[in-house]
Amino acid sequence: MAWLSLILTCLMVYINHVYTLEVEYDGQMTMKLEHALGTEASPDFTDRGVIEILSIRNAAVVMKQNQLTDDERRQLKALSDDDGWYLLKATFSSGDSREAKLRTFVKGCALYESGLSDSLTISLDHTGWPVGISMMTNPPYCDGRIVHPNDLRNFNTTVFIRHMEQGPVPDTATYIQKIEREKEARERGETKDNRSFLAKYWMYIVPAVIFLLLTGAVNPEGAAGGGR
Ligand SMILES: *[C@@H]1O[C@H](CO)[C@@H](O)[C@H](O)[C@H]1NC(C)=O
Ligand SMILES: *[C@@H]1O[C@H](CO)[C@@H](O)[C@H](O)[C@H]1NC(C)=O
Repeated sequence: MAWLSLILTCLMVYINHVYTLEVEYDGQMTMKLEHALGTEASPDFTDRGVIEILSIRNAAVVMKQNQLTDDERRQLKALSDDDGWYLLKATFSSGDSREAKLRTFVKGCALYESGLSDSLTISLDHTGWPVGISMMTNPPYCDGRIVHPNDLRNFNTTVFIRHMEQGPVPDTATYIQKIEREKEARERGETKDNRSFLAKYWMYIVPAVIFLLLTGAVNPEGAAGGGR
């Protein structure tokens, strides 16, 4: 019966837990971007630019991205025709010496046909440190549209920052300690709670009995018990 009350208490703690989505940290970060437009198996990465994240919490960013050179535009066109992958490498650094290196990729044709319109989503762990990056183009597919070379000069990038959402955690450890203390107290004969079992647990037993009666009522065959 201690188990029944343990399970019910856990459930109540779980329901009562205040679910907070507010981000408790903030900070700045520098994201250095390098990309590979080549069609070879292991293409060279070149500088794409830098995105300064001024506030992790508000996703306030300043972007300094390079224009594509004529050569890079030709490479991207070739990558698109070749149905190859555009590779992006992001190196994050904050004030201290820590660095996070993350990578992502999209179809070359998707970036080409989007006219360099992309969105970068940075996923942070519970301390605000980047643990993932993903890139999407707008539109996110290739349908063979013709793109004017003038539309392949400047990146049109949107940055999204995803914070980790921590779910509610039932506080079972404290409850188990409390049970242990009560057990010890009972063994020492100190407990004042000498009510009968029914008096203590009626609020759990009554719904269970009602539930059993109801399920028996709607399923009389089962309640009749093993007729077949
Ligand atoms: C820039 O990207 C946004 C959203 O991805 C899009 O709505 C807009 O048309 C793009 N602008 C240009 C000039 O491509
Ligand atoms: C519980 O114990 C107290 C004394 O320890 C006694 O006065 C009281 O009548 C008891 N109650 C029941 C329900 O046994």
